[in-house]
This record gives sequence, structure tokens and C-alpha cells, in this order.
Amino acid sequence: MKKNKLAIVGVGHVGSYVLADAMKLGLFSEIAVIDKDEGVAFGEALDQQHATALTYMTNITVKAGDYAECGDADVIICAAGPSVIPSDEEEMPDRAGLAVTNAAVIREVMAGITKYTKEAVIIFITNPLDTVVYIAENEFGYPKGRIFGTGTMLDSARLRQIIAANYGIDPKSVTGYMMGEHGFTAFPVFSRLNVQGFGEKELDKVFGGKEPLDRETFRQKVIKTAFDVFNGKGWTNAGVAQAAVTLAKAVMLDEKSVYPVSTTLHGQYGYNGDVALSIPCVIGRNGVERQLEIGLDEQETAWLHESAKSIQETMKTVKT
Ligand code: 2OP
Repeated sequence: MKKNKLAIVGVGHVGSYVLADAMKLGLFSEIAVIDKDEGVAFGEALDQQHATALTYMTNITVKAGDYAECGDADVIICAAGPSVIPSDEEEMPDRAGLAVTNAAVIREVMAGITKYTKEAVIIFITNPLDTVVYIAENEFGYPKGRIFGTGTMLDSARLRQIIAANYGIDPKSVTGYMMGEHGFTAFPVFSRLNVQGFGEKELDKVFGGKEPLDRETFRQKVIKTAFDVFNGKGWTNAGVAQAAVTLAKAVMLDEKSVYPVSTTLHGQYGYNGDVALSIPCVIGRNGVERQLEIGLDEQETAWLHESAKSIQETMKTVKT
């Protein structure tokens, strides 16, 4: 009988956290881990296998393997490639600096996966995320929608947490998201931000925030918070792993949930097959089932084009 199967490619700090979160999800009866370091993959799989004897969780088969494991996977989560290096300097380390190295990694990963499947839904985490998604979606003849990236889903969680902390409320009561690049040019869609219907212009008055909701200040807070994590512990993993696993659940349960994820645009905002970035999308069993073009105000529209330009600049560095 067909099992619900997840494959994780790359089990460093991020991939191993994805594995731990996926184990607790109870949706997969088989998880395969693939890493260029076979010893690491073996150790991670065995360690997690031990945990299954101690908890009331689905009896999950966890194993290390190679790309052949992708052949019958329902979902593949890819966290392969080096991560952003923490910086001693004041300036923030740049995800785009990984483009050349990780483009090569992703081309190798996609060549491996596509030997065995063009059906699994692939969720990318590797940075620079939007460039990686563009390469994977457009160079391997993979069915449209079945590849996407965690994108600004992570930035959106950070936005909601920062807004909630400002007003002393639960982040889950905040509706709002970031769009554009998963990087320095990501932007909150302030015109749509709300707390149970109270919009951008009402929040300070109604909730009496620690500081006024200035657009650029809060945008920068969200962008910078990733680097506070990096420069503190050396990497980020908890937030992005949760984003990836939440998306995997939306796929497995055919949720039709709407999340901001990175995909190649097809007509939205004047872009047609020439950039991948995060916009709200409907996520179901086929991956990205609809891309939604939400109306933006003048400043947000300018931010979106700035973001697209920044990603296209990075894409130029990895052209074949
Ligand atoms: C993050 O924002 C590194 O892109 C990753 O946490």
C-alpha cells in the first residue's frame, strides 16, 4: 500500500529541524533523508528512529537514502546548500551572496530528483530562495505549481510576531503578510494588515502600541530580526522549518490554505515568467493551485518592483 512519504534533501541545521517537526506532524508514515554526507543522513535518521520508541507518534519509518527515495515521495523539502554566515560587522550578511554556490547545488539536486519523479510537490528553503525557486521551476520541465519556496511565509510570521509584541496581543490575532523577495527587499502589505478587522490606521489608537506603526521602521524590524537570530546563535532554523512543515501539511491535506510563497509569476503585476517572488497563493495537493494578485497601494507597488528588480539582479549571476 502507498505510504504518505516525505523526503528531505539536506539535513544540516535546517533540514534536521524540518525532520524533527515533520516527525511530530503525524502525517507521514515514511520519511527519507538525503544528504551529500551519507554519514550525516544516516545519523539523523537513526537518531529520530530512536525517538519514535519514546513518544506516542505515528509509527514512522525514518531512513537515509539517495535520490531514488524521491521516486514515491508525496512531498520533498529541500534545505540543501550552505547557509548565510553570521557577520561580525554591523552590516547584515546577504542571502544573495550564496547565489552562485547554491545555484550549482540546486541544479545538482534537481537533476537527482527528476531522475525519479516529476510528481512530488517540492518545497524549497535554500537561499537565495527566489532565485533557487526560479531555477528549479524553469530549468527542469517540472509541472507548473509543483515547485515553490517557503518565501515570505517566514517573514510574515516575523511580521505578525513583531506587530503583536508592539500591541501586546497574540500573533495569531494579527492578519498580515510580507510579499516580494525573501531578503532585504521584502515588504509588509501594510494596507491589508489588520487585527480582527482593525486596520493599519486604527491600530495605534485602538491598541496603544509601544511605538507608532511607521511603515519603514516596521519593515526594517522584520528584515533585521533574521540577522539578530543569525548573529546570536549562528543560524536560523526553527521558524523556517515550521513554515516548510506547515506548507507540507497544506499539501498533504489538500487544505487550499492561502500562504505567501515564492513562485514564478505568470501575469501578476506585469511579470510573466521572468521572476519568482512571494505573493499569496492557494496551497493544496497539487502545490500552488492559484496565484493571487492582491491590490497594492502606491508605496507597496513600488516596493514590489524594487523587490523584483533585486531578485532579477541576483538571477543574472546564475544564468547558464
Ligand atoms: C531566514 O530568514 C536564513 O533565510 C533564512 O531565517
